[in-house]
Parts: sequence; structure tokens; C-alpha cells
Amino acid sequence: MKIIICKDYADASQQAAAIVIKALIVNPKLKLGLATGSSPLGIYKNLIDAYKKNIISFKDVKTFNLDEYVGISRSHPESYYSFMYENLFKDVDINDDNINIPNNDLSRVDDLAEEYDNKLLGNQRDIQLLGIGSNGHIGFNEPGTSLSNETFIVELDEQTREDNSRFFSSIEEVPKFAITMGIKNIMYAKKIILIASGIKKAEVINKTVNGEISNKVPATILQLHPNCTIIIDEDAASKLELDKKVDYTYSALSSKR
Ligand code: GLP
Repeated sequence: MKIIICKDYADASQQAAAIVIKALIVNPKLKLGLATGSSPLGIYKNLIDAYKKNIISFKDVKTFNLDEYVGISRSHPESYYSFMYENLFKDVDINDDNINIPNNDLSRVDDLAEEYDNKLLGNQRDIQLLGIGSNGHIGFNEPGTSLSNETFIVELDEQTREDNSRFFSSIEEVPKFAITMGIKNIMYAKKIILIASGIKKAEVINKTVNGEISNKVPATILQLHPNCTIIIDEDAASKLELDKKVDYTYSALSSKR
């Protein structure tokens, strides 16, 4: 595990985006795993900026989103489908046919997970972006999840619904279910970049890096990934114990620490 501690969110976003931009320059047919939530927004801004400066193109990029709410339509402003178009896809030259977001059509709910796994099949992601929930979820793999799951429909944790209620007018409006790549799908990516910022993520970041690997904090599985980089700001790093048992590289690119 490599950890990059940055002075602030803007810096963390820039560093994470720089990794994606370099990879895209080397391989314009990049297969990119995408995340939602507030954490990757800065990365997407940097990617749009690089596209507008003609540094990168998304023409041949294939994207695969981690998850989607079940119980709201794709046209709902808080669906992850809407989120991705609003915050990235509408501003770059991506081909709609290359965009993959788990379908949340309730009329076919029993088929949705297998359908998405089939899309992932043969499409190993070169880079998978991740945020992290305050309870240690990645994608929507909540505490207690099976670490060997592929795509599945999940009942959301109360903590997650509460955390995400800031995007809805009330907690009652936050969907109770979602479809998510499983831990097995996430771990299959060649490279993982997790971005987190703010004091609210400090405890879970320390657990992710130093805690016992357990489904109680699903993100701890990342300790076993051969190429995982965690990019955090100083607040999210503020509870990080730097001398624990896990083998990692500490690379303070922007910070003096
Ligand atoms: C949601 C998403 C996760 C994301 C998490 C954290 O629950 N399913 O993929 O990592 O939110 O969100 P934020 O970045 O807004 O803290």
C-alpha cells in the first residue's frame, strides 16, 4: 500500500488525477473504474481540465462505475447515472457506448447483478477509483459484507443512509438498496486509487491502513491489493499511525511531514 499525504483536498485531487492522466496518455484505451460521492469530484474537475487543454481524450476510454442506487430512477438528480453525466461525462468526448453504470431497473432486479458482472468480464480495469464511507465501505460494500462477493444488491447501512442524506431533502428519501460491484470485482483492478479528505474520514483511514483485515471494515481488504495508493489530505491523515505492522510507503509529496 502506498500512501500519499497532501496538504489539502485540491492537492489530493490533483495528485490522483495526475496518475489517471499519465495512464491515459500512455494508453488511450484505458479501462477506468469510477466512483461517486463528493471525494472524486476534484479528480473529475482535473480530468475535464486536461481534456479541455487537449492533453487527454476519452474517445476510446471504457468506464465502469462501482455502484448505483436501487429505488430511484436513472433520471433522478441523485442517481449515480445523473451524477456521472453531470460531473464528468457531459464535459468530455466519451462515447456513450463505452459507459457502464450498474442498471437499477426495478422490473428486472433479479438479473441486474449478473448482467453487470457480464459487462465486467474480460474488462479488467487498469485503474479503479474509490472513495470510502465513514463506516469503511467501498463501493456500497457495507460492514459485514462477504469479501468474495461479485456484483450484488445490497441493503444500505443506516450510517451510510445518514451520511448520504446530505444529498437528499431528508433521510427518508435516501434509497434503502443499491447495486454494487463486490469486493472481488474491486480487487480485480490492476491499480486502485482511494481518495479521502477531511477529519470525518481520519479514523476509518487509519483502520483501513493499520486495522485487522476484516469484513467489519471492508476497506481493510485493500491491504492485500498489490497496487493500491491511498491519497488523503492532512485532516484525513491526522489519525494515521505510521509505524504499524502494515508494509507501506509513505510518500509525502506536498506535505512537510
Ligand atoms: C457513497 C458511495 C461510495 C463513496 C461514499 C463516500 O456511499 N457509494 O462509493 O465512497 O459514498 O462518499 P463521500 O466521498 O461523499 O464521502
